[in-house]
Amino acid sequence: MLEKIKELREELEQISASAKQEVEELRIKYISKKGLISQLFADFKNVEADQKKAVGQAINELKEFALNKINELKESFEAAENAGGQTDLTMPAEPLRVGSRHPLSIVRNEIIDIFARLGFTVAEGPEIEDDWHVFSALNFPPEHPARDMQDTFFIEKDPDVLLRTHTSSVQVRVMEKTQPPIRAIFPGRVFRNEAISARAHCIFHQVEGLYVDENVSFADLKQTLLYFSRELFGEKTEIRLRPSYFPFTEPSAEMDVSCSICGGKGCNVCKYTGWLEILGCGMVDPNVLELCGIDSKKYSGFAFGMGIERITMLKYGIKDIRHFFENDVRFLRQFESTI
Ligand code: PHE
Repeated sequence: MLEKIKELREELEQISASAKQEVEELRIKYISKKGLISQLFADFKNVEADQKKAVGQAINELKEFALNKINELKESFEAAENAGGQTDLTMPAEPLRVGSRHPLSIVRNEIIDIFARLGFTVAEGPEIEDDWHVFSALNFPPEHPARDMQDTFFIEKDPDVLLRTHTSSVQVRVMEKTQPPIRAIFPGRVFRNEAISARAHCIFHQVEGLYVDENVSFADLKQTLLYFSRELFGEKTEIRLRPSYFPFTEPSAEMDVSCSICGGKGCNVCKYTGWLEILGCGMVDPNVLELCGIDSKKYSGFAFGMGIERITMLKYGIKDIRHFFENDVRFLRQFESTI
């Protein structure tokens, strides 16, 4: 009997398994009710009385050893499973999210590309500006309400240090530095002291355009904006110019595009008018040219400015401007495929 126990012990020391199923087979072979060790317990009654103590102890030790050994094997398979064991190296890898461009960047880049095809270059100016570049050089009279604390963020109570309220300030900077021909666009962030709502924010983005040369006419402005609108919203797009007022352009207009959602038939986005207002524009006021050091007898020009948020909202059907600034990944991930 002791001989048998020793043999089984040696056998158990060698056992190994290459799959979880094999561990179960070993358990059945050694420690199940009909297993080899249970068999020893059954044979125990035939052991001589004087050997009972030694044999009993040996069987118990063997059982203990077998239980530990099998549990160990079982646990090693379970641990491997939890760690993603039994790895199938031929499986395709988990996709890696690389992030996405912000919708405002996507649309800004699209606008830049369209104007680049017309020969417009890109320039930028500072966000913290002075009164001259944001207002005075643009023909705003000293008492103009746009300077009012209600609209403009001033820095440290100094009326000459402020956050620009529009990108038209970059027009001034470029004209002061360069003589015509000038053909450039200026994308950038602007700031207005406005209550935040679904339609308005105190921080938003604009793209400004400026074209100054000899004989630039309103027809050039109109054709440029028509080309731009069709490239951005589709070739069936129509435009409409409505007379408006800006201190720095004369004449001035506001431009509508035919609603890209209903095709001009009328829907709740265009408020059943068939038209969507997207930008302000006009011929650069000769006063502005002169204030910036450009001869207004020789040169004329046009300018326009549009809000990127508004255009992005129209293009993607986004109902609330605040989404752009909240960085909610559920919102941003929707633009993932557009990289
Ligand atoms: N700066 C104007 C605005 O912010 C837009 C504009 C730009 C109008 C250029 C005319 C010419 O509303």
